[in-house]
Amino acid sequence: MSVQTIVPAAGAGTRLKSEKPKALVDLGGKPLLVRTLLRLQKAGIAEDVIVLAPPDNLDLFQEVLEGAGLDFRWRLVPGGSERQISVSRGIEALPSHVEWVVIHDAARPFVPVNCIHQALEAARAVGAATVAIPCTDTILVADSDCFLVETPERKHLWACQTPQVFRVDIIVEAHRWATEHRFLATDDATLVRSLGNPVRLVMGSTLNFKITTPTDLLMAGLLIERGFV
Ligand code: CTP
Ligand code: MG
Repeated sequence: MSVQTIVPAAGAGTRLKSEKPKALVDLGGKPLLVRTLLRLQKAGIAEDVIVLAPPDNLDLFQEVLEGAGLDFRWRLVPGGSERQISVSRGIEALPSHVEWVVIHDAARPFVPVNCIHQALEAARAVGAATVAIPCTDTILVADSDCFLVETPERKHLWACQTPQVFRVDIIVEAHRWATEHRFLATDDATLVRSLGNPVRLVMGSTLNFKITTPTDLLMAGLLIERGFV
């Protein structure tokens, strides 16, 4: 079974407000992206990894990854203006022999190895799977003036995480459809579901949070310092 991993890392990190691109910010002595790649290596799915990088910073990313001493093959591909466009570029760069695709955000460095394996297993059974966790907060739907519109029942709500795993033909078709219909989503499982395909949810972890804000980065640093991850 041929598995290829795509790591979207081309975001600007607007909410993090860092000087460097988010994927290269320091996290306990290593760039965030390197920590995430090492986690994928530990799970045994780092072989010829495709990393989407900001087109303006390809040289810098190349330099950082070359200097990181990674002992697996990786390739940098220029990303796009939205996460979905970056992932699309990664899919276009897949070699033809690939059967399964794992997509994992560079911004989630602490994904537990067992979540990755469970997502692969679930995808093998139905064609597509995503890691997610049941929402602990009550989620409010608001209008553009910040007035409450409705409150969906919490027991059906899950917060989406990555990795997401797909049979290659399913994800290729979903991205083709999304591009054609100008449909934009913040994850890939949603595209697959929009075409009517089943997507299995696999239990994620609160440790698999996405580093988005300065507080997230601070908490991630503390988790490393205290030896929790
Ligand atoms: N991503 C990407 N290409 C983009 C936007 C995002 O590859 N054009 C990647 C990010 O690098 C990240 C993941 O998608 O690993 C999730 O995106 P997010 O957390 O939103 O990161 P940023 O877009 O960098 O952050 P912000 O939205 O605050 O600018
Ligand atoms: Mg973003």
